[in-house]
Amino acid sequence: MSASELKNLILCFGLLFGHLVPEGNKHWSFFLSLRKIVDMILSDFVSTKLSEDLAMLIQQHQLSYMELFKQHLKPKFHILTHYPSLMIKVGPLKKIMTLRYESKHRSLKLLANVISSRINITYSLAIRHQLDMASRLILNNGFENDISFSKRHSANSDFIAYCKEVAEK
Ligand SMILES: *[C@@H]1O[C@H](CO)[C@@H](O)[C@H](O)[C@H]1NC(C)=O
Repeated sequence: MSASELKNLILCFGLLFGHLVPEGNKHWSFFLSLRKIVDMILSDFVSTKLSEDLAMLIQQHQLSYMELFKQHLKPKFHILTHYPSLMIKVGPLKKIMTLRYESKHRSLKLLANVISSRINITYSLAIRHQLDMASRLILNNGFENDISFSKRHSANSDFIAYCKEVAEK
């Protein structure tokens, strides 16, 4: 899964599977605290209270990780502990996340797999990128909002509207 797919899965997971989980399940509370952390990190506004709450939640989350899974913390858990103070220094973390750059890389990575020649691959990618840009400009295409949903799910339009709302957050 791509990072953005995973983000949306985490945000919608409770809605999709919550009804199947028995009450009081420890792993589920663990997931819910992760969901809360993600929600806070993606928030549009920051405050000292939010940052303090986040710090506490992260600490609890990591303790319960070690307790539930009997494993040591990985480096990414340490990186997470910097988020609350970073939030106060630079504002909403959503605005500085690297997801946008990842998606810019994605098209180039896909292209790199398609081009069979390995001689000066960066040059080939640069040319393809320039051609793409030129075609965009000549056709006056700009950037399109091309999210589409299959017809099969159209009965659940409320749910799709909810997911769209979450995805745009
Ligand atoms: C790749 O192609 C560019 C443009 O022709 C050239 O300037 C560059 O030196 C080439 N790089 C390699 C590693 O051959």
